[in-house]
Amino acid sequence: MEGSRGRNLVLVLCFIFATIVSLSMAHNHTTAIAVKSSHRKKNHECVAYNPIDKCWRCDRHWAKNRLRLANCAKGFGHGTYGGKKGRFYLVNDSSDANVITPKPGTLRHAVLLPEPLWITFSCDMNIRLTQELIFTSHKTIDGRGHDIHVAGGAGFMLQFVRNIIIHGLHMYDIVEGSGGMIRSKYDHVGIRGRSDGDAISIFRSSQIWVDHCSFASSYDGLIDIVAASTNVTISNCHFVKHDKALLFGASDKTPEDKILKVTIAYNHFGRGLTQRLPAVRFGFVHVVNNDYTEWHSYAIGGADGPTIICQGNRFVAANGGCKEVTKRMFVPESIWRKWTWRSEGDLLLNGAYFRQSGNPHWAKTYKGYPLIPALPAKNVPHLTKFAGACLKCRRGSPC
Ligand SMILES: *[C@@H]1O[C@H](CO)[C@@H](O)[C@H](O)[C@H]1NC(C)=O
Ligand SMILES: *[C@@H]1O[C@H](CO)[C@@H](O)[C@H](O)[C@H]1NC(C)=O
Ligand SMILES: *[C@@H]1O[C@H](CO)[C@@H](O)[C@H](O)[C@H]1NC(C)=O
Repeated sequence: MEGSRGRNLVLVLCFIFATIVSLSMAHNHTTAIAVKSSHRKKNHECVAYNPIDKCWRCDRHWAKNRLRLANCAKGFGHGTYGGKKGRFYLVNDSSDANVITPKPGTLRHAVLLPEPLWITFSCDMNIRLTQELIFTSHKTIDGRGHDIHVAGGAGFMLQFVRNIIIHGLHMYDIVEGSGGMIRSKYDHVGIRGRSDGDAISIFRSSQIWVDHCSFASSYDGLIDIVAASTNVTISNCHFVKHDKALLFGASDKTPEDKILKVTIAYNHFGRGLTQRLPAVRFGFVHVVNNDYTEWHSYAIGGADGPTIICQGNRFVAANGGCKEVTKRMFVPESIWRKWTWRSEGDLLLNGAYFRQSGNPHWAKTYKGYPLIPALPAKNVPHLTKFAGACLKCRRGSPC
């Protein structure tokens, strides 16, 4: 019941979004053409506004050239190519009845195969996972061309893996998995405890790129990145209706999370969010050109001395919500003022304010980091205009 209501809401939002986009394109042709001609001017409809989207969206033969996406990751997840070196796998069955011997054609069967795979879907699907979906390395999940909803069941578990692309999925109403005997590798079945109820849980893994996904209301977090995971980019995603959204580094007792490096770029943090957009322990997070239009407690938070560099974002404080963007946990100012949390070129609106701390000359310390250059914050509504899994890619036209 909740699930189908959630799905309907997402569908309605997508529809409204698509309508607004097409109306604004129809009525504002001048702008569309101006933007278009500023990059690859192959096609009249191409309105890719940010550098990641420009890398692939203007290609009307995207469906034939799906692997091009593998060259488009930027930021700390750059170089993530997923299943580019493998074959295609077409998921043609939305069921998930057998978690020990998954049926060929299901998403679970695909992610457990030991080889690199580029996974696509044969039709629109609503996938309710009966238990957490345990990935193996070198996979791309490519939802382009269909509405793929992973909802009402367990979420994704990326543990001890590397090189994963997750693109174009709706994930919401994720619940805990009960645990039990679950296959976690092609040749290994083991007993698992309850899963947390995160939409995506990233555990001791690296080279992960999550792009153009829509996330809402899950039991635990939307994306958790923990246990010395690193080199992750989360881009072009849309987040709504959730309390504790993104948690990077789960415990004060895991200084191994100092290795954590995450880029958050071109996302829209929207309606009904409360906190952790993200919350960070120990690591380094680059937050660039995102749109924050609602948080009730705080947007950017953390503990244990993480470094957080915010550049070119738009923070619009909600009416009646907290105006402060930032929140430091558990220690007095005498300690946190040494943590480097910088705001550069952010647009702070409706009373929003960002309390900076630490080293203003941080850039010298982090030379060589793959930081996406920030564009002016006033462009953020455009840069994030197509955030989420609502691209409605059709064969033969650009996405
Ligand atoms: C078209 O869009 C631009 C930029 O978004 C805006 O400045 C302009 O007023 C719009 N024009 C019309 C006719 O809506
Ligand atoms: C679905 O995909 C599996 C795995 O590729 C294949 O074995 C099966 O024949 C396909 N089923 C249909 C109905 O196409
Ligand atoms: C993360 O990426 C850097 C290069 O940006 C690389 O040197 C390092 O080995 C990577 N770490 C892991 C665990 O993949």
